[in-house]
Amino acid sequence: MVEIAPSVLSADFARLGEEIEALQAAGCRIVHLDVMDGMFVPNITFGAPVIKALRPHSDMVFDVHLMIEQPSRYFDAFIKAGADVVTLHFEATDDAARDLGQLRKAGVRAGLSIKPGTPVEAVESLLPLCDLVLVMSVEPGFGGQSFQPQALQKLERLRSLRRQNGGIYLLEVDGGVNADTLQDTVRAGADWLVMGSAFFREKDYGQALEKFMELSKLA
Ligand code: DX5
Ligand code: ZN
Repeated sequence: MVEIAPSVLSADFARLGEEIEALQAAGCRIVHLDVMDGMFVPNITFGAPVIKALRPHSDMVFDVHLMIEQPSRYFDAFIKAGADVVTLHFEATDDAARDLGQLRKAGVRAGLSIKPGTPVEAVESLLPLCDLVLVMSVEPGFGGQSFQPQALQKLERLRSLRRQNGGIYLLEVDGGVNADTLQDTVRAGADWLVMGSAFFREKDYGQALEKFMELSKLA
């Protein structure tokens, strides 16, 4: 089943604990947490201490998207903070295979993300090590950008490779997903849809979830 993963990048940072509780009360099962270091991307958000502070507010799946250089330096911190899925960027590490192995060994789900300019072929040999593959449909760093449709071919390719090779990874899409683009991502194979600005623009998170889930079912 397709899942909506709201990205708190578009939430009210002054009330993050309440925002997380409101997402859970609305029926969300996954929350997407965007960690940015000002190096891999030109923006800085929050790190493991903030995630640790949020953990007691919810038992939703904490889907942590690391947009940081050499992410393995901080794996322990994010795992101790309560991450359930830790996704690193292929472009941010010199050894993605080692990193993915380290995450699985630590007992969290290992995710690998690719930026719009990185082809699926670059990560094909890493797919058996992945529990999740995150296809960026915008340049990482900021919410509210327009969906880049080349992401759809990548999702389709990753889905067909999964079928061919008996892979187990979930397919996640992130960036510019809204009422207009959501159904294309579902048809292309996305299992988890990250939604930042389009989700938090809605006043009532319960109604938002219902509306986007309904659209995904009609895809
Ligand atoms: C961007 C982040 C996204 C962001 C998406 O680098 O990875 O998770 O919150 O925001 P929207 O849905 O507004 O494009
Ligand atoms: Zn993200």
